[in-house]
Amino acid sequence: MSIDETKASPPFTFQRHVYRNLIPLHDTTSDMKPSNGLHPLRIRFIIALLSLPCAIGNAQHTLISDMDLLRWEKVMLGVWKASFGEIGLNPRDYAGAPNIEAIKALGDGLFPFAEKSTYSLLSPGRASIRLPLDATEKIYGLGLEFEGMNRRSNVYSLKVDHYGGTKGYTHAPVPFYISNRGYGVLINSPRRVKIHVGIGNRKDSQKPAPIDRTTGTNWSARPLSDAIEASVQGGGMEIFVFIGQTPLEVVQRYNLFHGGGVIPPKWGLGFWHRMHTQSSDKDVLQEIEDFQAHDFPLDVIGLEPGWQSFAYPCSFDWDSTRFPDPKAFVQTLDKKGIKVNLWENPYVAPTSSMYDEMRHFTGSHTVWLGEVPDYTLPDAQAVLLRHHQKNHLHIGVSGYKIDEVDGYDFWLWPDHAIFPSGHDAVEIRQLYGLIIQSMLDVHFRQQNRRTYGLVRSSYIGATNLNFVLYSDYYDHEGYVTALANASLSGLLWTPEIRSAKSGEEWIRRFQSVCFSPLMMLNAWASGTKPWSFPEVTDMVRNNIELRQKLLPYIYTAFYNYHKVGIPPFRAMVLEDSHAVPDEMAPASMDDVDNPFSEEQRIEVTDQFMMGPSILVAPVFAGQDERTIVLPRGNWFDFYTGTFMGNGEIIKIKSKLEEIPLLVKDGAIIPMLSSLEKTANTPPLEVRHYGTKENTFNLYNDDGVSFDYAKGDFSITQLVAKQGTDGKFKGTSSQLTNDEYTYGPIVWRWMTVE
Ligand code: GAL
Repeated sequence: MSIDETKASPPFTFQRHVYRNLIPLHDTTSDMKPSNGLHPLRIRFIIALLSLPCAIGNAQHTLISDMDLLRWEKVMLGVWKASFGEIGLNPRDYAGAPNIEAIKALGDGLFPFAEKSTYSLLSPGRASIRLPLDATEKIYGLGLEFEGMNRRSNVYSLKVDHYGGTKGYTHAPVPFYISNRGYGVLINSPRRVKIHVGIGNRKDSQKPAPIDRTTGTNWSARPLSDAIEASVQGGGMEIFVFIGQTPLEVVQRYNLFHGGGVIPPKWGLGFWHRMHTQSSDKDVLQEIEDFQAHDFPLDVIGLEPGWQSFAYPCSFDWDSTRFPDPKAFVQTLDKKGIKVNLWENPYVAPTSSMYDEMRHFTGSHTVWLGEVPDYTLPDAQAVLLRHHQKNHLHIGVSGYKIDEVDGYDFWLWPDHAIFPSGHDAVEIRQLYGLIIQSMLDVHFRQQNRRTYGLVRSSYIGATNLNFVLYSDYYDHEGYVTALANASLSGLLWTPEIRSAKSGEEWIRRFQSVCFSPLMMLNAWASGTKPWSFPEVTDMVRNNIELRQKLLPYIYTAFYNYHKVGIPPFRAMVLEDSHAVPDEMAPASMDDVDNPFSEEQRIEVTDQFMMGPSILVAPVFAGQDERTIVLPRGNWFDFYTGTFMGNGEIIKIKSKLEEIPLLVKDGAIIPMLSSLEKTANTPPLEVRHYGTKENTFNLYNDDGVSFDYAKGDFSITQLVAKQGTDGKFKGTSSQLTNDEYTYGPIVWRWMTVE
């Protein structure tokens, strides 16, 4: 075909380009001969010949049957492991040790995959796996996500990063997924896992027949695939499979495998407030007075970067003009019952008093011109801990807010950075937040003192580290979804409140934060106070007080997180009765009748469970009504005890002063009767909802130490039982010593007479 260049339309321009490129290789008259005198055609032939073995090598791996079968070893009841190649820096080295007894108590079960259905492949520079997935399976998890629940038909690049942009770039991208068929898979790798969740069909897989888009119906841009395939740039991975009768049990097993959940110190479950970065000790004292004057509680004061003499990078040393006597300052607050939490990022400023010691253990690149410690080195950890002990912890600082351990590529170190330990920069970056949490956690445990802090990145196995995730992202609905999703990966999340455009938004956000793992106002930049919107001030106070009164219930939920792995705040997909009927037949998890079923395509992202029996359904600014998806069983209104529905979707009119709370039939909810601080044990109001008999084991301990691990705690059993006269009666008894019991108990029957 001849090409008339003068008439060439734009598509031809492309053709012409190709044509021109080809000319030298075909044109025997061309003088573009290489200097070695070889004819270009011959060069082409040689190149083709040289690449032949490689092409054949790749061809060997184009079929599933060419992949290696994964070899599974049962490592514990209901837990299997397979591995291939070298994984590199092992994330699980920074996680808690498995609670083997608690895992045993969950019982055993069958390996979820058929024999010869799981594969691995090591190809140059990449390790990959392929695990089966059936057409109806729903997949949850993959760490801290702000959108959606079901991860099927998507691709996630699980990279520790500031949230946004690429799917899977988030503060805690945990490569752990849960199937509604009752199993979970952890890909244990320090590398960025790229995971194709039921998407991308291999040519020899079980796949649907192609549909002609022009004439056919049901053509799909994402045809269903029969597998989950994942890969890392690296030389291998470990894979763990956890089973359970229900998705909740899978999560429990995962959590217990990493030591069980945290029990925060009691003060950590109180009210947190962060000061402006330029605040001084005097400003803090003034702020405390303002809180008292407005009758608002205050349990933790957070100091933002400016408590230091230099920040971004950090000196980690007190600024002597703003805080001339840090010890006296921390102790003054302590006497008022207020803890101090310090903000820091890990990057060491040349002016830091630990710089000279630390600079021997830092990487090739800087962050904000501060040096980046290689905390995989015990020597680097020792420098930090020595410094922090002397300057912060020994004077009573309660913990940290570890910022900037995620960060965009243009902030943090590049993938090619070099660290003195020899560990790869990508691996160190993926694990950085986890490692820092882990070393601080070990420190606090050694002091027999519980901390509760904040961190902006986390990873595999963070379940028993006393830290809560937060973000600069500020979408209220996204925050609620994140709270729910966090529970699927052994994480805790705070939907912190910073600012609002109206009193309505202020109270709505406050309500969500009051029903979360960490109740924090982070308004240091905006200067907004809990009382800044007078029209809702009383409502804000009442919501905080309700959360405070619920402490016995919430604290017990955290104990169960620790003991049996049940997340205290959790996604609705972990609620047994949403997926299975009361008799708990695991086979019917996809029951079409239930409101969560795939058929009805309901993604419940805006409500979650708190403790065993409270369903929290936050309302967002602008909503004067909302729908609530009620799992099977009778549900009652928390405030009035009235029946609300059973296994259905209800619509409620929202009241500005209340966050909708729905309670399960038979729920026993122990609450403090009063928030007055008394010398005696606090009296309790125990509420009962619905018409079912029930038992609640109420946990309590000293609230500050790890002595509970040695058995130093009390359990009071609360029983609601119907007498022969049909009337309900409440009793309580001690199952353990009575060292940490509550005062007199008053039962309140919210539904029955
Ligand atoms: C941000 C952090 C905020 C605040 C701020 C202080 O990175 O997410 O919560 O602490 O730094 O400069």
